[in-house]
Order: sequence, then structure tokens, then C-alpha cells
Amino acid sequence: MAIATSLIFFFVILSASLHLHTNTVQAQQRRQSNVTLGSALTPTTNSSWLSVSGLYAFGFYPEGNGYAIGVFLTGISEMTVVWTANRDNAPVPSNATLVLNSDGRLVLQQPQSQDTDITNVTQPASYASMLDSGNFVLYNYVHNIIWQSFDHPTDTILPSQILLAGQELISRASETDYSTGIFSLSMQRDGNLVQYPVSAPTPTYQYAYWASGTSMYGDNCSLHLDGDGHLYMLNATGTTNIKNLSYAEPTKEEKIYRMTIDVDGIFRVYSLRRTLDPKEKWSIWWNSSSDKCDPKGLCGFNGFCISNDTDADCRCLPGFASVNPSSWASGCVRDFTAESCKIKNGDGNTKYYKMSPLENTQWEDDSYSVLQLSSRKECEDACLQDCNCEAALYKDQQCKKQRLPLRFGRTLLSDSNVAFIKVGESFVGPSSLYSKDLILLCT
Ligand SMILES: *[C@@H]1O[C@H](CO)[C@@H](O)[C@H](O)[C@H]1NC(C)=O
Ligand SMILES: *[C@@H]1O[C@H](CO)[C@@H](O)[C@H](O)[C@H]1NC(C)=O
Ligand SMILES: *[C@@H]1O[C@H](CO)[C@@H](O)[C@H](O)[C@H]1NC(C)=O
Ligand SMILES: *[C@@H]1O[C@H](CO)[C@@H](O)[C@H](O)[C@H]1NC(C)=O
Ligand SMILES: *[C@@H]1O[C@H](CO)[C@@H](O)[C@H](O)[C@H]1NC(C)=O
Ligand SMILES: *[C@@H]1O[C@H](CO)[C@@H](O)[C@H](O)[C@H]1NC(C)=O
Ligand SMILES: *[C@@H]1O[C@H](CO)[C@@H](O)[C@H](O)[C@H]1NC(C)=O
Ligand SMILES: *[C@@H]1O[C@H](CO)[C@@H](O)[C@H](O)[C@H]1NC(C)=O
Ligand SMILES: *[C@@H]1O[C@H](CO)[C@@H](O)[C@H](O)[C@H]1NC(C)=O
Repeated sequence: MAIATSLIFFFVILSASLHLHTNTVQAQQRRQSNVTLGSALTPTTNSSWLSVSGLYAFGFYPEGNGYAIGVFLTGISEMTVVWTANRDNAPVPSNATLVLNSDGRLVLQQPQSQDTDITNVTQPASYASMLDSGNFVLYNYVHNIIWQSFDHPTDTILPSQILLAGQELISRASETDYSTGIFSLSMQRDGNLVQYPVSAPTPTYQYAYWASGTSMYGDNCSLHLDGDGHLYMLNATGTTNIKNLSYAEPTKEEKIYRMTIDVDGIFRVYSLRRTLDPKEKWSIWWNSSSDKCDPKGLCGFNGFCISNDTDADCRCLPGFASVNPSSWASGCVRDFTAESCKIKNGDGNTKYYKMSPLENTQWEDDSYSVLQLSSRKECEDACLQDCNCEAALYKDQQCKKQRLPLRFGRTLLSDSNVAFIKVGESFVGPSSLYSKDLILLCT
């Protein structure tokens, strides 16, 4: 069924695109639809095997200060990788070689090291093929598929590719780093398509930040993308559409589509016009959310997300500083350059704290104690006087004491609440504004 669909798509694209991409093929790439045993690629010459139309290539692409192996589009300047082999392996240097060897294994060879398998097969391959659907396939001697990149998606699915129950897509680490990132899109066995932060201990409902709401359909539901941008889910028999995510794009232009879970944790259907212009750019046809603060964990520990109409931004809790300003997800730690530390150094073991309020934010509720208190001030004091309390969330007369780190933080303007964060405060003498709040903490 899946093979039939992909074959039909293959021929549609094949006939449609043959004439379009003839000119865009780079000299270093070989147009070779069937890759025979003994064929080899190197990062700098003969670096990839092209599909018949030249739309997709399998082979080396630049990553970091070396090369990675995967499937990518040719003919556009915007580098678009749709599949990566061994995505968490380090980039390889230019003296590496990729070989479909005489044993029928596709291996990466590097000087003075063991061969690395690129595909995991139980029988030898007779030949390989980069199909025009974007699927890279290994066949045995009776022409059966023994391995295909479509069965091992990384962060993208293409038309005719199916995300089956039990499979997931995981975002890349950054726009230029294709290794495993921090967000997933999981086709669960209960029929629900759900997004989680990868760090969630066991993916359970409380960590989800997006769900299709189709859990009543049970096992073996699947996610599909059609060649017209239609993203939808089918039930176990593959006969009934249970959910439309995006609709087919009503367009007369020739376009190609992909669905990717992006670095920011949102998944989007993109379209690209088929022209000869290498400057052509992908445009968003559909997105899972327009609120860029939805993905949980975007701002890391002790950070919270602020969004305006177009962008998301991360801030740290009061008294905290960003671990790595170029990577929000690395979160925030106590700002030890704060005045309080200098005082501490000059003053033996004595530490002074106060509570710093933060209005209208939402966090994961992982409280170790919940008190019924009638005022903000009581909640503030309850945390201040509890050596185990590092923060308190106060809403509707409930005071929830927390330990750090706080996570999944975001602003929530529609909600009236306050978070109190215990911060160090410089001791400025008995007449200080804060002196009434100062307490001696257990050390
Ligand atoms: C690739 O090999 C298969 C099986 O031998 C053959 O049917 C097909 O025509 C070949 N494709 C091309 C483009 O040569
Ligand atoms: C690329 O591969 C082709 C076909 O195998 C071969 O003839 C050619 O010499 C190779 N080019 C380089 C630079 O290795
Ligand atoms: C291969 O390249 C790496 C990195 O540039 C280098 O360290 C290594 O010595 C090279 N090996 C050979 C055999 O040239
Ligand atoms: C290869 O496939 C076998 C059987 O499907 C599986 O048990 C094994 O974990 C796989 N190995 C890798 C490296 O994916
Ligand atoms: C799901 O697929 C598996 C493997 O094909 C099958 O054993 C199982 O019965 C299916 N479950 C449902 C609910 O169709
Ligand atoms: C899928 O939907 C069809 C039509 O509603 C139904 O007949 C079939 O039983 C469903 N299959 C499963 C496994 O739910
Ligand atoms: C999804 O859209 C198709 C038309 O494109 C329609 O036939 C189908 O019933 C829709 N499915 C649902 C669950 O609404
Ligand atoms: C994202 O989807 C929302 C609907 O969920 C839509 O309002 C918004 O315009 C979309 N944004 C983009 C950039 O497509
Ligand atoms: C949204 O925030 C981003 C980053 O903070 C900023 O560059 C952009 O100008 C803001 N856009 C609007 C419409 O306020």
C-alpha cells in the first residue's frame, strides 16, 4: 500500500520535474538513480547520489567544521536537509568515504577507524536508489526494499512518507546543527499525535504542549502528508480520515511540500515553488501553533518565555542570569556576581535573602507543600521563613512552595497570580528598606 503510493508519487514528480531541474545539477554530483555495489562518495568530489530528476540527493553535506550524511534538496540555495544518518555522531572530516561495499553494506570509512554502518539491515543490499520522492532505499537481489530512509524519520516527513504509531520526529539542535534537539512530535499507540519536550521523564500528558485529541481511535493510527500540502491522520485500517491538520493548498503552481518539527518546537508544513531560481524560499503553509511560547522548555530551567505577535523571547527569574545567552534552552542560574555574595564574603557565613515578586507567569507545578493563605504577604513570608523553599506560586489563596529549578515558565497575562523568588539581598544596615524581611537562614 505504502509502496504503491510512493511509486505513484514518484512517477508524478518524475515526469513533472525532469525538465525543471536539468540545469541545477552541480558538477560534483552524479546523476545515478541506481547505485551499484562498490560505488563510493567523498565529501569533496562525487559527494552525493542524485535522484533521477535531480530534486533530491543522498550523500555528504557540510555541517560544523566537517560533513554529515543525509538526504537534502538540490537546486536551492537554502540548505534543506530532510533526513540525517546517525544524527548524533560527530561530523566527519573530508578524508572520509561512504561506500556501498561488496558485502552489500552501506558504510562510512575513515582512516584508522572502524567502518560505521549508515543503515541497519539484516540482509545484504544488491543496489541502492535515491528516489524522487526523497526516499533513499536499499534493495536486495529480488528488488525488495530492505531499508528506506522514510522508515527512519528525523525531523521531517515528505509527501507519501508516513509517521506510524510508535514513531516520532525530533527537532534538530539548531538551524545548522542537525543532531537531536529538545522537542518531539510523537505518533502514539493510543492514536494521539502529541508534542513533548524531549527531556520529559516519561512522556505523560502533563508535559505535552500540543495534542491532536484523537486518543479515542486507539493503536495504529498514522500521520500522512500529501503532495498538495494536506496533512492528516488515518485510523488503524488506513481507510478513515480521523483528523485534518492542514488542508490541500488550492494552487495551480507546481510546488513541493515538507512537514518539519522546527528548532523552536512548532511543526509546520512548508511549500516551495518549483522554479529554476535557486533563490526560491520555503513558505509556511500551515503551523501547529502561532504562539511561540507554547513549546515547554524553550527557555530552560529558571527562564520564562515572553511572546509578542511574531517572536518569543526568554527572560530569567529575578536574581538569575542566562547560562548561555545564545542558547535559551540552557536556562538561567543564580547570578552570583550579585551584591549579596560580596557581603557574604565579608561577613563570614551570614546570608540574607528577600522575596522578589514576578507577576502573571505560569510554571510547572511541582510543589512540595500547598498552604491555604489569604494574602500574598503571608505566602511571601511562608517561603522566606522556610529554608527548603526557594520560590512560591500564589494564586486563588493557594500558596505553593517550590524548590528550584522552576521550568516551563511563560508569561500569562490573562491570569492573575504572583511568583515569589527567594533572592540574595545586600545587607545595607538596620535602616534598610528590606531590613524587616531579613532573616538568618540555616546553612
Ligand atoms: C534500477 O534497477 C531496477 C531493478 O534492476 C530497474 O527496474 C530500474 O529500471 C533501474 N532504474 C534505473 C533508473 O535505471
Ligand atoms: C566520480 O565518479 C565517476 C564515476 O564513478 C568517476 O568516473 C570520476 O572519476 C569520479 N570523480 C572523481 C573526481 O573522483
Ligand atoms: C583525516 O582528517 C583528519 C581531520 O582533518 C585528520 O586528523 C587525520 O589525520 C586525517 N587522516 C588521514 C589518514 O589523512
Ligand atoms: C538494528 O536492527 C535490529 C533489529 O531490527 C535492532 O535490534 C538493533 O537495535 C538495530 N541497531 C541499530 C544500531 O539501530
Ligand atoms: C496494530 O498493528 C499490529 C501489527 O500489525 C497488530 O498486531 C495489531 O493488532 C494492530 N492493532 C490494531 C488495534 O489494529
Ligand atoms: C477505521 O474506520 C472505518 C470506517 O469508519 C471502520 O470501519 C474501521 O473499523 C476503522 N478501523 C479501526 C481499526 O478502527
Ligand atoms: C478531512 O478533509 C477531507 C476533505 O479534504 C474530508 O473528506 C474529511 O471528512 C475530513 N476529515 C475530518 C475528520 O474532518
Ligand atoms: C499559524 O497558524 C495560525 C492558526 O493556528 C494562523 O492564524 C497563523 O496565521 C499561522 N501563521 C503562519 C505564519 O502561517
Ligand atoms: C517581538 O519581539 C522581538 C524580539 O524580542 C522583536 O525583535 C520584535 O520587534 C517584536 N515584534 C513586535 C511586533 O513587537
